[in-house]
Amino acid sequence: MRILLIAGSFNSLTQRVLVELRDRGHTVPVEVTPDGSAIRDAVARHAPDLIVAPMLKAAVPRDVWTAHRCLIVHPGPVGDRGPSSLDRAVQEGVAEWGVTVLQAEEEMDAGDVWASVPFGVPDVGKSDLYRNELSDAAVTAVLLAVERIASGDAPQPQTGAVHARPALRQEQRAISWGDDTTETVLRILRAADSQPGVRDHLLGAEWFLHGGHPEDGLRGRPGELLATRAGAVCRATADGAVWIPELRARTGPGRPRACKLPATLALAGRLPKLPELPVPADPAPADPAPADPGPGGRTWSDIRYREHGPVGILSFAFPGGAMSTDQCRRLLDAYDAARTRPTSVLVLGGRRDFFSNGIHLNVIEAAADPAAESWANINAMNDLVEAVLTTTDRLVVSAIGGNAAAGGVMLALAADEVWCRSASVLNPHYRRMGLYGSEYWTYTLPRKVGPALAARLTEEARPVSAAAALSMGLVDRVVDRGPGDFADEITRSALHLASRGGIQPRIAAKKAEHERRESVAPLAAYREQELARMRRIFDDPSAAYHRLRRAFVRKEANAARSPDGPDAGAAGPVDC
Ligand code: COA
Repeated sequence: MRILLIAGSFNSLTQRVLVELRDRGHTVPVEVTPDGSAIRDAVARHAPDLIVAPMLKAAVPRDVWTAHRCLIVHPGPVGDRGPSSLDRAVQEGVAEWGVTVLQAEEEMDAGDVWASVPFGVPDVGKSDLYRNELSDAAVTAVLLAVERIASGDAPQPQTGAVHARPALRQEQRAISWGDDTTETVLRILRAADSQPGVRDHLLGAEWFLHGGHPEDGLRGRPGELLATRAGAVCRATADGAVWIPELRARTGPGRPRACKLPATLALAGRLPKLPELPVPADPAPADPAPADPGPGGRTWSDIRYREHGPVGILSFAFPGGAMSTDQCRRLLDAYDAARTRPTSVLVLGGRRDFFSNGIHLNVIEAAADPAAESWANINAMNDLVEAVLTTTDRLVVSAIGGNAAAGGVMLALAADEVWCRSASVLNPHYRRMGLYGSEYWTYTLPRKVGPALAARLTEEARPVSAAAALSMGLVDRVVDRGPGDFADEITRSALHLASRGGIQPRIAAKKAEHERRESVAPLAAYREQELARMRRIFDDPSAAYHRLRRAFVRKEANAARSPDGPDAGAAGPVDC
């Protein structure tokens, strides 16, 4: 079928639906359209058999849905209506939610039902839920709907109770620090993650609070800041405390939007002296990554290390998958410490959600000298990738539990094996941010997929499904598990790999190959060549990168993820 995707943004769900439909042989043009008239033009241009809107805020014009079958993906079960469905589900703490594919009609979310798929709601932020459980269910529902349409079925009218609810406003998201328990505060914070955040007062200013994780030990006067760790602040609730990783200053109407930043960076100059908690429970004194407390442990850290016999697992979860200079350095410290442990397999990643999206564009944008910070960040990223590439005394496995992009994909490729959840979408390119790229991609990508495909992937800048990544050799194994089961499956598989015969000869062969390659074409030469190109881009104030980064961070226009190149505008066809 020729299926036109229309979306308000080329976001994770739109990309996922695109790659899944494309993998099944459909022709799938994508149009990023902010309003109804643009939808009309796009439909006239593409003459589709079917229109699917995975993520659309604008209404589809009547003349479009009367002339074409148009399916809307609604992030709620049948009967649920309104713009804040998922926010409300998380804030109310529901155990199960759903996603429904409806036929577009006059009233929003009121059309006939083509498919509806339920999913369990774990204790995670809304955006994580959206990129994982919801995306998995949405893809199942879209594929089911397409199948039903192809076989001539008819949709079912909505018959049950209707719950139409308006947008969740900041007043309904407000936290009462003196009264609200940790559980309530976490539900409110998670429902507002990653947008719009929870508006609040802190240290004499107004902020949007982004993200929330439980703390198990610290206590204090409700509302008080108690400690910092890894850029996050810990704040007391009525009966405990929560970690808040990111803040965005409220600038008010008519003023440019502030960057969402690691909390301690956003509060720099205002923070009172607080204890900086390095690690909740070190497994070994020299280890900079906290021991993973397992399912029962509650305190938060962005980097964790745990061991299962011959397997070490170094997992990390940075908000938005972005890795600042500081985050890269802390992860490198933890990686170096993990290399001192007596393991034969070291897993990098393995958590649900984003693996990595490369350098931290927000921290760069907020820096006094963005070019200098870009340079520091890419070098810190390269140091980390280099450490992985030069590990010759054990096997390293990258375990991608969610999506990865740009330098984040290249970080994964530095490992000996790349395992990837079946639902992951990879963007192995830099072009949409106007960058040449680094992270040793000129070495790793052609080695994985061959020079011709490496050139195509970086030039075309398309998202790639896990299945397609496997068939082109970008990843070595696809892990067909849900987001909640991924970590356990990775541990099992890593143990299996470590216990298989032949691991020591394989490590020895890897060491020999590393030495051979260094004598022919040293890694340093790849780094130097890539960084020379990056330096020119960073140092050129008129380079597209600076404009695209600003637009991406400040959400001025969806420039970085809508069009087919750095010079395209905010909306239009996506070259996919
Ligand atoms: N730096 C800073 N923030 C980043 C980021 C980065 N490299 N990558 C993603 N984010 C943020 C997004 O701004 C968004 O923030 P929000 O929660 O405030 O809205 C959040 O992470 C989630 O990302 P989003 O874009 O909504 O996720 P997605 O799954 O829909 O799209 C990508 C994923 C990778 C396509 C998109 O985020 C992207 O293009 N990122 C930039 C990749 C890049 O160019 N990196 C730099 C070169 S190494």
